[in-house]
Amino acid sequence: MLTLKFLVLTLGFVLNCHAQKEPRKFPEHLLFGTATASYQIEGAWNEDGKSENIWDRIAHQVPCPIKNCDTGDDANQSYRLYKRDVEMARELGLDFYRFSLSWSRILPTSFPDVINQAGVDYYNNLIDELRKYNIEPMVTIYHWDLPQKLQDLGGWSNPHIVDWFSDYSRIVFKLFGDRVKYWITMNEPREVCVQGYSDGSLAPLLNITGYAEYLCTKNLLVAHAKTYHIYNDEFRSTQGGTIGITLSAKWYEPENDDHMEASEDHYQFEVGQYAYPIFSKTGDFPPSMKKRIAENSEKQGFFRSRLPEFTADEIELVRGSSDFLGINHYTTLIAYRNESVDGVYDSPSYRHDMGVIGYALSDWPKGASSWLNVVPWGFYKLLTKIKDDFDNPPVIIAENGFSSQGGLNDDDRIDYYRSYLDAMLDAMEEGCDVRAYTAWSLMDNFEWLEGYSERFGLYEVDFKSPEKTRTPRKSAYIYKEMLRTRTLDFSYEPDMTKPMTIDDGL
Ligand code: NOJ
Repeated sequence: MLTLKFLVLTLGFVLNCHAQKEPRKFPEHLLFGTATASYQIEGAWNEDGKSENIWDRIAHQVPCPIKNCDTGDDANQSYRLYKRDVEMARELGLDFYRFSLSWSRILPTSFPDVINQAGVDYYNNLIDELRKYNIEPMVTIYHWDLPQKLQDLGGWSNPHIVDWFSDYSRIVFKLFGDRVKYWITMNEPREVCVQGYSDGSLAPLLNITGYAEYLCTKNLLVAHAKTYHIYNDEFRSTQGGTIGITLSAKWYEPENDDHMEASEDHYQFEVGQYAYPIFSKTGDFPPSMKKRIAENSEKQGFFRSRLPEFTADEIELVRGSSDFLGINHYTTLIAYRNESVDGVYDSPSYRHDMGVIGYALSDWPKGASSWLNVVPWGFYKLLTKIKDDFDNPPVIIAENGFSSQGGLNDDDRIDYYRSYLDAMLDAMEEGCDVRAYTAWSLMDNFEWLEGYSERFGLYEVDFKSPEKTRTPRKSAYIYKEMLRTRTLDFSYEPDMTKPMTIDDGL
C-alpha cells in the first residue's frame, strides 16, 4: 500500500533532517509556554471543599478502567506544590504557562450558588506566583473534568449545559480576569464528545455512538460561543484579554489520489466539526459531514438527521466566536476510504458516518502512546490547510509533545520537538499566523486511561516520592536554551551535570 508519494515524502523528510543543520531563528513575536491540566496534576481530589468530577468517579470504579488502577487522587500534588511548578516555569524561561481550572473545585455544587474560597485561593496563588515572575497565565476553563453531578444530569448531551458552563465561566472571569489575558474555553471538544460519549475511551466512558457525540458537539459549541460573548460583552473592555477554543487536529494524508475525499472527510469529522462552525463564514457544520450523516440517517430509517441542527440564532452566536484558533497537534494518519468501517452498514455510528479508516505507516517512528506517530511534515500540512481554509486565523499551538516510558536522556523527545518546530517554522514562512507554541507537558502527569505509564514531561516526576520530585530531562535543557536564544539549534548539546538555573533576574 505504500505508494511512491510516501516514499518521496518520507525520504524528503529524512534527508531534510540530516541536511537541515543550520540553526533557524524564531520570529520575535512568537511566545513559548508549556501546558498541564487540573485533573492531570492537582491531586487533592477531595480536599478543601472540592466535589467529585467524572474522572474521580471512573478512577474509583471497580474494576478499575485505568491502567495499573492509577488515579489522579494525588497526581503531581500541584495543589500543594504549585510554587515548584512556577519555579520550573522560571527555569525554562517560559513566556506563559497554560493550566486549567477544576470546575468542581471552584463550584462544588456545580452551580454559582456556592463558591469554594479554598479553591479560588489556590488559583489566585498560582496566578499571582506566575505574574510575580512575568509569566503570563493561559487559562483553560474546561479540560475534561466535568462535575459528576452535571454528568448525572446528562453532561454535555443536555442542552442546559450551555447555561451551566456559561455561568461557571462568568464566575471565573470575575474572579481571575483582572490578571488573566489568555482564555481557552474548552480543550479538545472532539475528545470530550467522541471519546467520552461515543467510543468510551475517556470519562464518562459512554458508548452511545452515532447520537451522543453529535448532541455533545452542538451543546459544547453553543456553550463555548455563549461564553465567548459573555467575555466580549461584559469583561473584554475592562479586562482586555483574548479568548478562543482549542481543538485537537491531526493531519490526515490520503493513501493515494483515490482517497483524497476520504482524507477530507476524516479532517472534517475530526477538526471541521468544531472549526467550521466557528471559523467559516457559514457558522454551521461542514457541508460534507452534514450530508453524510443525513444520508446515513435516512437510510437507517430516522425521520431526521442524527446530527442536530443549529438554529439561526445559534449560527449567529457561534460564527466568529474565537479570537484565535488553539491547536493541539501531535500526529498524522493515513486516510483510507472504507464505507463499512465497523463492518455494519445499518447501525448508526460515528465511524460509519465518517467512512474512513486512519492508519499509521509501520516505518514511522513512534512515541510510547499507541497513537503517536512522528510525522513532522503533517504539522506543516495541517497549518497550511488551516490558513487556506479559514482565511489565516491567528493560531496558538496549545499542545505539541512526545511520550516516552521515562528516563532523563530523552533524545527521541528532543528529535520530536526539533523536527516539529522546524515544520512549524516552514509553515510560518508560508504565512501561517502562529502566535504561540506550547510544549505538552511541563512535567509527567496523569495520562488519562493510561495512568502514569506514558510520560510527556520536560520534567520527569517521581510519583513514588512524597514530594513528587520533579527533575529536568535533557529536553528541558534544550527547550530552555531554545527559548533563551530564540533559536532552533539542531546540534546544541546541554551539560546536564549543571543544575537548571533561574535566569529571569527576579
Ligand atoms: C491532549 C490532552 O489535552 C492532554 O490532556 C493529554 O494529556 C495530551 N493530549 C497527551 O495525550
